[in-house]
Amino acid sequence: MKLRSALLLVPATLALAAALLAPATAGGATARPGHAPTTLRELAKQQHIKIGSAVDVAALAAEADYRRVLNREFNSITAENAMKWESIEPQRGVFDWSGADAIVANARRNHQAIRGHTLAWHNQLPTWITDNEANFTAAELRGILRRHVMTEAGRYRGQIRAWDVLNEAVADGGGLRDTIWLRKLGPGYIADLFRWAHQADPHAKLYYNDYNLESDQAKFDTMFQVVTDLLEDGVPIHGVGFQGHLDIQFSFPDFAGHMKRITDLGLEVAITEADVRMFLPVTDEKLATQASYYSQMMSACIANRRCTEYTVWGYTDRHSWVPGFFEGQGAACLLDENLAPKPAYDALLALGGKRT
Ligand code: XIL
Repeated sequence: MKLRSALLLVPATLALAAALLAPATAGGATARPGHAPTTLRELAKQQHIKIGSAVDVAALAAEADYRRVLNREFNSITAENAMKWESIEPQRGVFDWSGADAIVANARRNHQAIRGHTLAWHNQLPTWITDNEANFTAAELRGILRRHVMTEAGRYRGQIRAWDVLNEAVADGGGLRDTIWLRKLGPGYIADLFRWAHQADPHAKLYYNDYNLESDQAKFDTMFQVVTDLLEDGVPIHGVGFQGHLDIQFSFPDFAGHMKRITDLGLEVAITEADVRMFLPVTDEKLATQASYYSQMMSACIANRRCTEYTVWGYTDRHSWVPGFFEGQGAACLLDENLAPKPAYDALLALGGKRT
């Protein structure tokens, strides 16, 4: 059970008095003075959540310092690219599990939970699928998708805590996204995916995952409808992932409120891909804003007892997708290129120690 920090909302003196007066019942929501965490892993333990990072498989193999910090700081990992369809089945029927297997093996050695990312998406599909959209019948393509889900989720059956079963299937501004899956299979593909994934790995938590759910209200509303329909139809879905790709040029969005809408349905939520980008060059002021955004996302997660995980999309500016995808922007991670902690890292650790 997760013990949450409602007491942090009242003045410190009152909180302290309450903590001293509260009976120390086992399993009760009793404040105990915790120690200040020195790693994110310790914070994760204190807060009863997973704190994770996306993993770059090449860096994992080649860089001992990257590996060391990853394993010291995180109790959960997500493969940044290695479990995507183009990585595991670059040619039809020709599988390459080397990257995904290496990440899973490292996680198991280091007692890290594994988030599977992602079974169905419109990006990073193998070209044998995207180049042949017109040549596949709907039945063929449905069979291909089913086989993919059964093969990948089946391979790691029992080892994945949560799967991003479906990624980014809602359009910016609302409505279902126009993808190969929607075009060829119709909206029923969504329920099919979750049912297949559940069959392949009955113990994995199954998530819908997307970006801007906290800031694009129409997008959130479509997602909410999709998820509600799935629940009504008895489809196995267990959570919604808020990717959390933020940009300091915009004000901090309402994570807590949007997450609550989902958890009020009885579902879990997770922050699955947090990063906070800025236009370069870096300044102290920008780093302070970044720290506050990372920290506010974490606070929203800690405050919601059904928020299970806070994963960052890469933990170091040495390996971040941001500079390659957002022109002029970067420095989006918790640690810099030399793996030195930035203010954002310290801001996260500062959320610990007050309560266990
Ligand atoms: C990104 C990776 O970080 C890049 O290395 C890759 O080139 C493109 O994809 N949302 C997602 C992630 O769900 O899979 C994306 O990852 C970032 C946006």
